[in-house]
Amino acid sequence: MEATHDVLVVGAGCAGMRAAIEAHDAGADVALVSKIHPTRSHSGAAEGGINAALGNASEDNPEIHAYDTVKGSDYLGDQDAIEILCNEAPDDVYQLEHWGAIFSRTDDGRIAQRPFGAAGAPRTAYAADITGHVLIQVLYEQVVKRQLQVYEEFFAWKLVVNDDRCQGVICWDLLDGGLKTIGAKTVIVATGGAGRLYTGTTNAYACTGDGISMALRVGVPLKDMEMMQFHPTTLSPTGVLITEGCRGEGAYLLNSEGERFLKRYAPNAMELASRDVISRAEQTEIDEGRGVDGNVLLDLRHLGAERIHERLHGTRELSMVFAGVDPIHEPIPVRPGAHYHMGGVDTDVWGQTLLTGLYAAGECACVSVHGANRLGGNALMETITYGKRSGAHAADWALSHTTVEVPSSVETDAERELRALLDREEGERPWAIRDELAATMHENFGVFRREAEMERQGEIVAALRERYERVVVEDKGSVFNNDLTQALELGFLLELADCMVVCGLARKESRGAHARPYDYPDRDDESYMRHTMVTWEDGGPRLGWKPVTVTKWQPQERTY
Ligand code: FUM
Repeated sequence: MEATHDVLVVGAGCAGMRAAIEAHDAGADVALVSKIHPTRSHSGAAEGGINAALGNASEDNPEIHAYDTVKGSDYLGDQDAIEILCNEAPDDVYQLEHWGAIFSRTDDGRIAQRPFGAAGAPRTAYAADITGHVLIQVLYEQVVKRQLQVYEEFFAWKLVVNDDRCQGVICWDLLDGGLKTIGAKTVIVATGGAGRLYTGTTNAYACTGDGISMALRVGVPLKDMEMMQFHPTTLSPTGVLITEGCRGEGAYLLNSEGERFLKRYAPNAMELASRDVISRAEQTEIDEGRGVDGNVLLDLRHLGAERIHERLHGTRELSMVFAGVDPIHEPIPVRPGAHYHMGGVDTDVWGQTLLTGLYAAGECACVSVHGANRLGGNALMETITYGKRSGAHAADWALSHTTVEVPSSVETDAERELRALLDREEGERPWAIRDELAATMHENFGVFRREAEMERQGEIVAALRERYERVVVEDKGSVFNNDLTQALELGFLLELADCMVVCGLARKESRGAHARPYDYPDRDDESYMRHTMVTWEDGGPRLGWKPVTVTKWQPQERTY
């Protein structure tokens, strides 16, 4: 064993770093494992902002924030978890400010807040359109200030379970090669989402669902895996995120006829309806022939150069660099793209999973505060509030338990498995399977879902999993062997795809991101206001269900 710690956090994005800071401040010996440098984590790609009812732009309070989130979730979010998020959010944002987060300001010096989709008040605190980047820097400063150990460029591959407890992680050392085991009394997975399951995604190459799959493999249930959010404005053709902040600042969405088509789908909220509603509207326009080369247009021109320079400079740069379009003068071609997994590792409101000693936080977790559709700005907030809570609980548990034991057989079994993969000389290359997986998920499990296509996708994933058994890693080296890590990531992705399809088929209704307009166009609260749950048994997903927690808000018709 390389080392042992009280708390080991896997993933060093906003959730992971916030968890590590909290656990350290509670007195625990903490370390982080990350396959990339923390400041390159995908949280840094979050642009538009973070939601807290500060009330700086208009009357607001946590109760309204909670109601908006419950409604936004299409009544699949757990209301106890949502209330905690919304109540703790304001203080958690001020904590970030005190640590040095440079938020944009109102004229009188308070944190500025912009309107975001499906929010009853301008609630999204922001740092121009680089909010995630700013938060990542601030959290990393706090990690460095506390001298927390970071196992950088360590690829976490397997969770160690001994004595019915999670007691560490087996990692591949990307820089020097070899498997390294790090023991811990508690482990927090904070590895982000799995957007790389799709061809068109805002997600970084690193977002391959590692922590979700590692938890699944040790028997921990996943929740609401069918709920993949499609963000309405991803840049064509790359899929880079064009922030909802553009629409918050007043940008329009136009079809090929120059029409603000949302008036036919969300006449009150228009471009600030919820993401699922807008993505469906866009896809309908495109499918019915009113798109522009498979896109719709996001028009910022009327905002004027000064406002674009001040608040949306990142958007302008991305548009110019990746699409050759200057939004001061031309509309930006956008389309829906896979953005955020509302589903993930099932946890309670302290980040605890069903396995003692294992916690999850951030996008890889499903508490669930987002239900069937997340509100823009609530993801960054969840990373902070639930990262903090997981860190506090994991530290508390670790400080009241003393032993860490990793049997040597666990390490030798992992060595043998890895050797078998590396020793294989012939077979199929992983990228071919990965590309097919991403293309077919996009085709068959996208914005709109059909029974036959989901069934077909189930067969495709099964066939890809069979081909994966014979995958060959050509690079046999030990230094930055991306060929190896991408093969391991593909294993994670394939299992998650299987889970998503099983859950999607089982949910015979339309709710939030799961839209089945052709066979089950309506929401069915009687049968399906409950979470899908999935465990991995006998080499495949096994479906279960869990009730939604309702505190105050009974389901209502959801219109914007
Ligand atoms: O559009 C955005 O800026 C994304 C924000 C989010 O997903 O919360």
